[in-house]
Amino acid sequence: MPEVNDLNISAVKQSFDTALRAVSNLDELDEIRVRFAGKKGDLTLLLRSLGKLPPEQRKQAGQEVNKLRDEIENRLNEAATRLRDAENEKQEIASRIDVTLPERGRTAGAFHPVMQTMHEIANIMQGLGYSVATGPEKEEEFYNFECLNVPPWHPARDMQDTFYFPDGTLLRTHTSPVQIRAMLQYGAPLRIVCPGKVYRRDNDTTHSPMFNQMEGLLVDKNVPFSVMKGTMSEMMNAFFGRSLKYRFRASYFPFTEPSMELDIECVECSGHDEHCRVCHGTGWLEVAGMGMVHPNVIRAGKIDPDVYNGFAFGIGLDRMAMLKYGISDLRLLFDGNVSYFMSSFEGAKSC
Ligand code: DAH
Repeated sequence: MPEVNDLNISAVKQSFDTALRAVSNLDELDEIRVRFAGKKGDLTLLLRSLGKLPPEQRKQAGQEVNKLRDEIENRLNEAATRLRDAENEKQEIASRIDVTLPERGRTAGAFHPVMQTMHEIANIMQGLGYSVATGPEKEEEFYNFECLNVPPWHPARDMQDTFYFPDGTLLRTHTSPVQIRAMLQYGAPLRIVCPGKVYRRDNDTTHSPMFNQMEGLLVDKNVPFSVMKGTMSEMMNAFFGRSLKYRFRASYFPFTEPSMELDIECVECSGHDEHCRVCHGTGWLEVAGMGMVHPNVIRAGKIDPDVYNGFAFGIGLDRMAMLKYGISDLRLLFDGNVSYFMSSFEGAKSC
């Protein structure tokens, strides 16, 4: 092997071998590439030194240096491919998903209990052939009172009870106006439930100015009173998931005649606890108002009361949710304050 300006070709080859063997990543490989094949690298120095050789040695030395250059380039490229493959594999292993790991758990979102109740009762009623209908919360006096046979002197019409807008419209005080809107839109026969928010000028521990109701209306030919009783008791049994005792009490609503209220057996104590916090020892819970639709109301819906009759009911959904889900304070349903909510759990420890 000819000597080339202090730099011996085989010495370069040897130090390249050693350096390449020690390389463990692409950055280190780059350093080696610069050191041997770069502009100021050992190979360049070797090539430059060729000119200083006696002419008879130049040709052979030139061939040897070129050979070494090709070899170094090939081996650098091979090493680069090998290291890149190894790094890709490492990354791939690191990002691999272990499907056998247990799940992390999730923070579950959930329906508000009142929404849940609304859906449950609507589903039960849909099973009985009822459709869901909705109406506006900002309502006209005409639908909210007049069509429902609520006389002008009725206290519900008073400013004390109803939120009026300056233009004479109001926030509906019940879901009953949807009865009228549905009859006008769909005619008879008709089976609907109308869930939604209603508003009254009430605000104390057991009343909220906004609360939720579900109205029901069935209009058909020759609807007997017994269908109303059967529908209501079946609905309650399905909602509470068991067969309850119930009783119907005579009552008064301007939009029904006769009118009734439905009491179910106390879902907390079934009438066995005279100190029950839910029924206060009476053993009964008042859950719905209802009755056979007044002919004036049928007429307001542009249906002939001589041909059609029906029954209607109204349920307080907030109360139903409280009864089913054991919520003791109405305000919890409307309060977004989580700490207040937590403090309502007896004996709950704050940590
Ligand atoms: N609208 C009544 C209320 O808000 C509830 C009600 C009672 C609705 C009897 C009815 C009904 O449809 O027939 O208190």
